[in-house]
Amino acid sequence: MTFDFRVNPNAPADSLEAKQPHVDNGLIVPDPSRYFSPEFMRKEWERLWPRVWLLAGITSDIPEEGDYTTFDLGHESFIIVRQEDGSIKAFYNVCPHRANRVALNERGSVAQFTCAFHGWQFYCNGKLKAITDEDTFAPELVAHRPGLAEVRCDSVGGLIFINMDGKAPPLEDWIGLPEGYIENYEIDKMHCVRHVRSTWNSNWKVGVDSFYETYHLPHIHPQTQGVMEDFSQYDLYPNGFSRMIVPLCVKSHRIPDQETVDAGLRFMMQDAGMDPDKFEGNAREVRKAVQKAKRARARRLGLAHYEKLTDGQLTDSWATGLFPNVQIGMHPEGVFIMRFLPHPDDPKKFYYDNMTLFRYVDDPDYFVPAWMGLPHGTEVTGKVRPNIEHVPEGQKPDLGEVLDQDVELVAAVGAGSRSRGFNGPLWGEQEVRIRHFHRELDRYINGEK
Ligand code: FES
Ligand SMILES: [Fe+2]
Repeated sequence: MTFDFRVNPNAPADSLEAKQPHVDNGLIVPDPSRYFSPEFMRKEWERLWPRVWLLAGITSDIPEEGDYTTFDLGHESFIIVRQEDGSIKAFYNVCPHRANRVALNERGSVAQFTCAFHGWQFYCNGKLKAITDEDTFAPELVAHRPGLAEVRCDSVGGLIFINMDGKAPPLEDWIGLPEGYIENYEIDKMHCVRHVRSTWNSNWKVGVDSFYETYHLPHIHPQTQGVMEDFSQYDLYPNGFSRMIVPLCVKSHRIPDQETVDAGLRFMMQDAGMDPDKFEGNAREVRKAVQKAKRARARRLGLAHYEKLTDGQLTDSWATGLFPNVQIGMHPEGVFIMRFLPHPDDPKKFYYDNMTLFRYVDDPDYFVPAWMGLPHGTEVTGKVRPNIEHVPEGQKPDLGEVLDQDVELVAAVGAGSRSRGFNGPLWGEQEVRIRHFHRELDRYINGEK
């Protein structure tokens, strides 16, 4: 039993669009306790989170020397700082004196870090600069010049990762995606135009699972059927990575009328700078026409990165899963980054953190795509980095109708997973990414990695 939907059956084997070889992950039906038990959560804190590369930020947030951003995970917090030579370093956000958080803001720009408690100072490279009233300390206590504790940090294609484990493989070996896969989108040239964090009522893995398939679209999000296929191409990569290619600018195959060009498809043509009134084709022909229009527009505007992208990439969402807790919806105009951040103590909650990144192009025919769902008046030039919108617990994030539906879904699934009547998830062939993710997670939990 396989599910072999391909967006482009003619894609050459070496194309990034090509269907990847089948991976046999067996037919595991894990015990549902992984979705709620404090014991499983404890194992994750011990065996997973401190050992994996974690998406901690984006390079365009810290362009200049001394620019920093922070990243919090569980009880840890990290500072990620741009160095004098352009490289990036990361540190535990903790003062070696008495453990105060050194950086108290989400981001900023400094010549040095000064701890607010007693004023110890640290250079941007983490080294100790000055101890207040140093002559009142026994010299042997501070002879090692206590600086900020460094963690490993590396970046790929505009994404910054950290790793608490000194023994983990380098980032480039750990990322299971082929070279160019991330880089071709030039995320380093995009800016965060919206950043929202909300608390959802389920385990973080219920969140990951829900965004790893489009099987639920016709049931939970029927409104997407006019502009999106719900059969996706599912591909599995090494180290728990995966992607699904979701064809956009098409109607779902479940809709009998594949001719009429309705409002949704008209919007998508407008996004691409087309005039829908002048379009003479049927609904089946919209995706190709949009690809052509975007290709021509990119050439006119000198957007060289489009040349590295297939036609399919100009319309479709390449929803890419970075093990363990990130999915990025990738498009040439921008990307939608979701991070599923575990709650520090409660296995039945997680923080849904998402950043909308947009590549600003100053041209009257270049628009912010409608899928970004940005509130009216959002500053998109990249000149102003918005603060994180922290949505109070119990409130839904204002992220549009589809995500509203997901908030409720995820809470219901989280609750259901705790039922005595539930024996574990039965994953079908449209859910292979989920099985792949859990199989990799188990390798960490079971000590195989
Ligand atoms: S805790 Fe930082 S200077 Fe005292
Ligand atoms: Fe959904």
